[in-house]
Amino acid sequence: GKVRAPTHIISTISDDRGEEPCYAGVPMSSIVEQGLGVGDVISLLWFKRSLPRYCTKFIEICIMLCADHGPCVSGAHNTIVTARAGKDLVSSLVSGLLTIGPRFGGAIDDAARYFKDAYDRNLTPYEFVEGMKKKGIRVPGIGHRIKRGDNRDKRVELLQLFARTNFPSVKYMEYAVQVETYTLSKANNLVLNVDGAIGSLFLDLLAGSGMFTKQEIDEIVEIGYLNGLFVLARSIGLIGHTFDQKRLKQPLYRHPWEDVLYTNDSAPKPPKFT
Ligand code: ACO
Ligand code: LMR
Repeated sequence: GKVRAPTHIISTISDDRGEEPCYAGVPMSSIVEQGLGVGDVISLLWFKRSLPRYCTKFIEICIMLCADHGPCVSGAHNTIVTARAGKDLVSSLVSGLLTIGPRFGGAIDDAARYFKDAYDRNLTPYEFVEGMKKKGIRVPGIGHRIKRGDNRDKRVELLQLFARTNFPSVKYMEYAVQVETYTLSKANNLVLNVDGAIGSLFLDLLAGSGMFTKQEIDEIVEIGYLNGLFVLARSIGLIGHTFDQKRLKQPLYRHPWEDVLYTNDSAPKPPKFT
């Protein structure tokens, strides 16, 4: 019989060999004819299945809400400085994307990991938060530079409202809210942030949709799919900031001396006058 030579690549999400490209087996024409959206495309290419409409709508809302947060945040700042240094679109974009990580926008996966572990082990918010403190780990998904207990993040409220109305269960999100209630009793800046809201709600989406086995959910959380939502979303804003700077013909950025505290502790001290 025929012997199939071993391939160098295995791919399971898309196929361009036929008359039209397919995403997870679904032909492009069917995606267009059914009037599907970017949430459905993400379902097919990331999760390799068609998710119910409320799930794909939730994904789309995450992307819309995280698309931008003004010019002052880490990612936009980097992109603006890079664009003003005369660099091209891709360089300006990735310069901003590179700031996404444990402090900024990239805490979604860890929030999902820690909230899931704590909820599944029945830890009270007190046990969870104080346990993290003992380990010297900040709770991912909690805390914000400018949002406060009395100035909540509207994005979080919108996501919570959508999920409470449309999800069959929001048990992980409600747990995250209990954690927030405890952390807010410690300091007013320790709100549930947008990363924490998406992380906990995506656990509810995965568990409540009935579309994933327990093993698949564990794999998604372990691999870390969810920061991808912020990366994808914020690319929209970062591309916008690049065009904005180019359109405005902004010159090379140089940070003002007055805004730097120049200090050198190891430098010899000036002589004291007696
Ligand atoms: N868990 C526990 N304690 C915290 C947390 C947290 N998540 N965040 C702040 N604190 C406490 C700590 O006591 C901290 O003191 P420390 O430096 O000794 O640890 C104190 O608050 C002051 O912290 P700051 O660094 O001044 O707070 P800042 O406003 O600079 O930090 C930040 C904001 C980076 C978001 C922080 O809260 C944090 O690391 N959170 C966890 C990561 C996270 O969720 N990032 C996503 C933010 S949302 C987004 O980027 C779209
Ligand atoms: C964001 O979405 O960029 C923000 O939540 C971060 C910030 O510092 O405001």
